Amino acid sequence: MTAAPTTRKLRLASAFDVERIRADFPILNLKPGGKPLVYLDNAASSQMPQQVIDRLVHYRTTQHANIHRAVHTLSEIATSEYEEARRKLARFINAREEREVIFTSGTTESINLAMHGYGRKFIGAGDEIILTTLEHHSNIVPWQMLCEEKGARIRVVPVNDAGELLIDEYESLFNERTRFVGVMHVSNALGTVNPVKHMIAFAHSRGVPVLVDGAQAAPHMKVDVQDLDCDLYAFSGHKLCGPTGIGILYGKAALLERMQPFKGGGDMILSVTFEKTTYNTIPHKFEAGTPPIAAAIGLGAAVDYLSGIGMDAIAAHELDLLDHATAQLSRMPGVRIIGTAGKKAAVLSFMVDGVHPHDVGTLLNQDGVAIRTGHHCAQPVMQRFRLPATARASFAFYNTTAEVDALVAGIRSVQSVFS
Ligand code: ALA
Repeated sequence: MTAAPTTRKLRLASAFDVERIRADFPILNLKPGGKPLVYLDNAASSQMPQQVIDRLVHYRTTQHANIHRAVHTLSEIATSEYEEARRKLARFINAREEREVIFTSGTTESINLAMHGYGRKFIGAGDEIILTTLEHHSNIVPWQMLCEEKGARIRVVPVNDAGELLIDEYESLFNERTRFVGVMHVSNALGTVNPVKHMIAFAHSRGVPVLVDGAQAAPHMKVDVQDLDCDLYAFSGHKLCGPTGIGILYGKAALLERMQPFKGGGDMILSVTFEKTTYNTIPHKFEAGTPPIAAAIGLGAAVDYLSGIGMDAIAAHELDLLDHATAQLSRMPGVRIIGTAGKKAAVLSFMVDGVHPHDVGTLLNQDGVAIRTGHHCAQPVMQRFRLPATARASFAFYNTTAEVDALVAGIRSVQSVFS
């Protein structure tokens, strides 16, 4: 995403009624241990507004049946609601066609689908796959499994001390054996927004397709897959105010047509005999078995909810929170921010001198402040920065500057406990 011009950002941020939005989220009223919940673990999972909860209850109480399988009324309703959810997701990311959206169980399954569907068919011995140091394990391990099976190898784009990809090095990794690029849009560990549009254009100039892991981007900024021109784009529902167990893999129709199915079973076939099976058209070719129907419909409601607020307004508010938090933590003696890229989204990783991140997280929890500590499923990032773990606050559009201040006050009390 390109940064919004400042005047527009100010207008969007000032029109943003965070208290009205917070009223949609029942869980934000909790008081764990008697302290108001300050939920800053949104990169792991966001919370769900009442509108999505109500949509799930409505589906469960009035619309549920299996889909694509029967002529009875309930099945027709459930089928049409499920396919309507697919249309909503396609609009949300500006896919050219709704059949380019495959429902999966989440980003991890989406990437595994890409590996089995594309990688196992088109990548062979001696071929190379380019990944980056920033990748989440879910965009590393499937490709390692492929390399082990096929005798291919992974090349890794390094990062600088700010946590930005070294794009010259990326470009120099390409050669005649390069077959695929996998890159995350936004780093879950550091918050870096990667220049994926440029990286995609460069890969395409070498005839190489690109998968973008959008798990940490889709909830925080407008994603336009046609503008990015990515070949595959993956994200999860539960980081986007939707249910767990649902996500999507977007793919350009022509590419999805060439890919092989990942899972075999019902609904992904046109005909089956013991001699030969013919596969269904996309996207059904990739959706074997009964899908998570309710979760897909819930995800449709979640993108309706986010679109109602506006992704530009969400991005502007979250950048205000990030700027406020960054300014405060940068001024705190004994606190070091990990990941200082020029372009970041709603993630702030940090270290408190002399305190293990797990202790930071445990003490903050006693103040009602929920953050994540650990390697964030991104061990190569921790190795790059020679750290075992970081403490990570991650923001959503329903967070407030007062909550950032609560985080800062909590870090001060951690320091006083350990001083
Ligand atoms: N990948 C998620 C995170 O960064 C779970 O916390």
